[in-house]
Amino acid sequence: MLEKLELIKSKVEENLNNINSISNLNDLKVKLLGRKGEVTLLLRGLKDIPAEKRSEIGKIANEVKIELEKLFMEREENIKQKALDIRLKEEEIDVTLPGLPIPLGAKHPLTQMVDEIKDIFIGLGFTVAEGPEIELDYYNFEALNIPREHPARDMQDSFYISSDIVLRTHTSPVQVRTMEELAPSLPVKIIVPGKVYRRDDDATHSPMFHQVEGLLIDHNITFANLKGTLMLFAKKVFGNELEVRYRPSYFPFTEPSAEMDISCVNCKGVGCRVCSYTGWLEILGAGMVDPRVLKNGGYDPEKVSGFAFGMGVERIAMLKYGVNDLRLFFDNDKRFLSQF
Ligand code: DAH
Repeated sequence: MLEKLELIKSKVEENLNNINSISNLNDLKVKLLGRKGEVTLLLRGLKDIPAEKRSEIGKIANEVKIELEKLFMEREENIKQKALDIRLKEEEIDVTLPGLPIPLGAKHPLTQMVDEIKDIFIGLGFTVAEGPEIELDYYNFEALNIPREHPARDMQDSFYISSDIVLRTHTSPVQVRTMEELAPSLPVKIIVPGKVYRRDDDATHSPMFHQVEGLLIDHNITFANLKGTLMLFAKKVFGNELEVRYRPSYFPFTEPSAEMDISCVNCKGVGCRVCSYTGWLEILGAGMVDPRVLKNGGYDPEKVSGFAFGMGVERIAMLKYGVNDLRLFFDNDKRFLSQF
């Protein structure tokens, strides 16, 4: 029996290193050490050995069996370790490689434009005011000297929510709202960036667009203050070589009213398609605050005066960046947006 066991053991020692998979290893283990395995059956023969030799032979036989089990265990460890080494090598990660870049977002070009406009006026001592986009007819029209049936309402074809409530068609209603809040203290010196809504939709008009309103009220404010302020603004946005001109205009809430043109940013005033061969581009409306509007806001037009202006942010951004279709700002196409 011991000879047979030794023979099995030496065979195992000889061949074990050729077994390279756990399942083959297990097969052999079952064949030898399983319930019906060769070694198990051999050991069962112990009971037929005469009693006086049984314990000695049994002891040795058992040691051989334990050694076999140890061999199998070591081989199993060995196979597993090798598999792990191979996997680690295949999946080798170089932790010193740079990571995948995470694309950074950026501000929308219109937000950048509003920020730029805000910065300029904040630098001149203006503060930023805001008002509701869903506005009372009173502030949007009435308080600005645009009564019902006034033809000026046609210019701002509106989205009405009820007969008294409207999506604001301009940022001007915040003029009177702010005056009401601050009166009688001076100065009133605000800009009002925000969204406005009109029934318009083409390459240069969108039903929703952005304006920045400005209002300065104090003692002795004159048209010269208006001109100086807006000239400085235009040069900051479009460059120092730019020229400015004012044309008489009409707004119900200013008197006198003007429109400010800048020399064409495309042809520098020579005349081209961008400026319809006039050399000039209209960029904003402005004027001296109408006495009735001052009164509606709680100020005495005999004692104070002011100027106001309003500009379209999309238009200014289109001129500044040479964008020819306003709808590009709202298409959310990254190829367009990432250029700013
Ligand atoms: N609210 C006018 C518009 O939307 C723009 C405007 C013109 C605003 C003259 C003003 C102003 O404050 O003085 O067309």
